[in-house]
Order: sequence, then C-alpha cells, then structure tokens
Amino acid sequence: MKGSGMRFTVAIDGPAAAGKGTISRAVAAHFGFGHLDTGLLYRAVGAKGGDPAAAAAGLEPADLERGDLRSAEAGQAASRVAALPEVRAALVEFQRRFARREGGAVLDGRDIGTVICPEAEVKLFVTASDEERARRRWLELAAKGGVQSEAEVLADLRERDRRDREREAAPLRPAPDALLLDTTELTIDAAVAKAIKAIELRQAQGRE
Ligand code: DC
Repeated sequence: MKGSGMRFTVAIDGPAAAGKGTISRAVAAHFGFGHLDTGLLYRAVGAKGGDPAAAAAGLEPADLERGDLRSAEAGQAASRVAALPEVRAALVEFQRRFARREGGAVLDGRDIGTVICPEAEVKLFVTASDEERARRRWLELAAKGGVQSEAEVLADLRERDRRDREREAAPLRPAPDALLLDTTELTIDAAVAKAIKAIELRQAQGRE
C-alpha cells in the first residue's frame, strides 16, 4: 500500500473533546499519513474577526499558528462561523485536496465523512459521554492555566455540540457507513488500537 501514488483517506468525526485529535495524530504517525485538524480552520476564521466569509476565503497558513486558537472562546467563535454556508464553502477545496494527498491523509472534524470526503476509505465517528468529554477537556485546559470549572466546560461543550448538530449546513452526524467508536471507557491506547485495526482491515480489503 505504501509507495508513490498511494491515496487513502481516513475521516474522523465526532463531538468536541471525544478524542478525535488524539486518535488522528496517533493514526497518522502509525501509518505515516498527513493529518489535518479541520477544527483549526474554523477556529482561525473565528479568531480573525471581521467578515467571516472573507476571513475564510483569505485564510493563510500563518492564521493557523496563532497561540489562542485552542481556548474555549475560540471554540465557541469557531462553532458560530462554522454555521455559515459561505464559510464552509470557502474551506471545502483545501480540505479535499489535503484528503487526496499522496501517502494518505487523516482529517478530523464534524462533516468529513458526510460532506468533505464521503468517499473516504475509512470513516470513524468518535464519541464519549458528555461528562467524560468535559472532564478530559477541563484537564487539558487546566494544564494550560485555564480558569473554567468542570461544570462550565461541560456547559460550553453542550452548547457547542447543540449548535454543531442543529445547524443546516453540514451538521454534525455520523455518515451511514461510519464505524462508531465510543471512547468513554477506553484508554487512549485502546481507542487508537481500534482505529488502527479498522484501517488495517480496509487496507487488506483493498489488496484483495
Ligand atoms: O474540533 P474543534 O473543537 O476544534 O472545532 C471547533 C468548531 O469548529 C466546532 O465546534 C465546529 C466547527 N467545525 C466544523 O463545523 N466542521 C469541522 N469539520 C470542524 C470543526
């Protein structure tokens, strides 16, 4: 499967803080695939301010390197601009090009398996209970000096998920053929192992 010309897309979707980023990075490292955190695109658009559609159309690599993109405020701003169809449309082509890059690609987000890459070779929908997701995100933010309580983080995640699920444009939902991966009771290693297994199975099918 390795070698020039290999195209292989892994689409990883799910609600906030379910473990998509961790799994995506580990899977990309394991297979030598490129990884695109598509949430970062929406976070960068939200953080730019001004007209969101113009911000999306003019997005530059440097915009993705701002230090404040991982904050809870940046997450809420991202979720708001992500509901705008013009913003989403401006980001489609970049994501699709990344998905078909040589050597394989992992993209994580909300609509990768449904809208961006419905043809992805592997689709995962990663979930965890609200409480577990809030606990993980709170630990992550606290390590960076975050000031929100766990209850505030939970309320924040729920608000964002509701907006992401209920919007008209590319709402958060599993693709019909996505493999559901509930990480509530799983260690990181166990969740990553399941994702790797699903990809290896698909690669073996491709060789048949
Ligand atoms: O994955 P994240 O938490 O960094 O994403 C931030 C917000 O961006 C999320 O609440 C909704 C939006 N988003 C989206 O609409 N589509 C994607 N593919 C990725 C993120």
